[in-house]
Amino acid sequence: MNTINKNNSTHSQHNAVSGDHSAAIKERNTAIEVSNLQFWYTKESPPIIDIKAWQVSQGEHVFLSGPSGSGKSTLLNLLCGTLTPTQGDIALLAQPFSALSNRQRDKFRARNIGVVFQQFNLIPYLSVAQNINAAVYFASTNVSKTASDAKLRHLLDKLQLSSHVLHAKADALSIGQQQRVAIARALINDPQLLIVDEPTSALDTDARDSFMSLLKDVAGESTMIFVSHDKAMESYFDRHCSMSELSPSKNHIKTRGDEAPKAQERA
Ligand SMILES: Nc1ncnc2c1ncn2[C@@H]1O[C@H](COP(=O)(O)OP(=O)(O)OP(=O)(O)O)[C@@H](O)[C@H]1O
Ligand SMILES: [Mg+2]
Repeated sequence: MNTINKNNSTHSQHNAVSGDHSAAIKERNTAIEVSNLQFWYTKESPPIIDIKAWQVSQGEHVFLSGPSGSGKSTLLNLLCGTLTPTQGDIALLAQPFSALSNRQRDKFRARNIGVVFQQFNLIPYLSVAQNINAAVYFASTNVSKTASDAKLRHLLDKLQLSSHVLHAKADALSIGQQQRVAIARALINDPQLLIVDEPTSALDTDARDSFMSLLKDVAGESTMIFVSHDKAMESYFDRHCSMSELSPSKNHIKTRGDEAPKAQERA
């Protein structure tokens, strides 16, 4: 594969992505550290992800943008361990995450990472309470039932979801309700890292603005990576990264709808 090694200038570009982010952030511990990360779905095409270096500090809320097909969801899947790097390393919360076994990664994810998927991924035939409590079960922490019920009530309140909704089946909810339940599920275990994939694409502008205010509020001190192709969302975030800066070899890969032949792309 002739597109593996990119020049090192991209490294400094990545670090510069944080722009005028304050010195205070630099003093915080690192939440995400990516080094020489490459990922292919199939070896016949250029890597979908090719990132020399990327760091996110604890507590940062990062807006990650890029066109459809640029690899945003793939990167998030690598960060939460549902995909494994083809090469390179991902460290999360100072742990060598990509070196863990599948089982260790599942456990780490359940305890430390809250994920809001692009399609929410609620289990349709379970109630809202069962969907959220499944996340508590998989984290298998020592938090008591009373404490986790209290946390759930607090989250529902913050997310402006009536407690009646707890008994509804997930597939009986509106899109907006599903989004908020997905966030409640992602936050129920107080994750240090919150990964949110394109959650606003089905919302109108007003609903999107109130959703973002809520999300920023409930995310609090968690580190958050928020993915969207909608640049209008940038204003909610103090750090912006684009897939073309992070993963420059993606410039070889045509986004959906582009008909250029693959041989040319890799020339
Ligand atoms: N399971 C898969 N097997 C093979 N190729 C895949 C798979 N999933 C995604 N891809 C390809 O990887 C590329 C990146 O896909 P990805 O879903 O990460 O993009 P994205 O930036 O999240 O796009 P969108 O904005 O539409 O959600 C695309 O070219 C896609 O076709
Ligand atoms: Mg996606």
